[in-house]
Amino acid sequence: MELTVEGIRDSIGAIPDYPKPGIIFRDITPLLQNPAAFELSINTLKQRYEQTGITQIAAIEARGFIFGSALAYAMGCGVTLLRKPGKLPGKVVSQSYDLEYGSDELQMHENALTANDRVLIVDDLLATGGTVVAAHKLIKATGAEVEEAAFVVSLPELGGEDKLQQAGVACYTLCQF
Ligand code: PRP
Ligand code: HPA
Repeated sequence: MELTVEGIRDSIGAIPDYPKPGIIFRDITPLLQNPAAFELSINTLKQRYEQTGITQIAAIEARGFIFGSALAYAMGCGVTLLRKPGKLPGKVVSQSYDLEYGSDELQMHENALTANDRVLIVDDLLATGGTVVAAHKLIKATGAEVEEAAFVVSLPELGGEDKLQQAGVACYTLCQF
């Protein structure tokens, strides 16, 4: 039977009590191991964005790199890496943010984007939205335009979609839990 976009949801795993008690961790690794689900995820995003003039995909470490890179290759645009602290070799700009469990910081090379860029933010999953709001701040400070933020999974109960709306960031997700 041919996989549908609804079938992408079925390919996401659920791990109870990871990384700490009470959290159900939505796991993308079964999706990645399912070639039809991975291909359909990328092709669905490609169809949505291929006519929008995206020049760069801003991919968020680490799982966002997987989807962001595959989509950039499919769309013929570049990949801009938004990394955890201390990983990028050049001069960076930084933005800290709160996570569902803890806090962290994102960095981007300071000359990575310009006002001529049209950027799609890509990550595997939207939880509280803190990561992508930080990414959006880093990107907007360069003068680049942000088209949207795209995710494979979102967890609406954690408030990320509302947080992105308040920050003026449009978002699109392939499935929700
Ligand atoms: C996870 C996930 C998103 C972020 C979502 O990454 O891949 O990047 O958290 O959370 P938020 O919406 O509450 O900000 P994590 O920081 O665990 O990093 P990893 O991909 O390197 O495991
Ligand atoms: N799965 C994967 N990454 C996450 C999750 C989750 O449930 N929550 C916050 N980051």
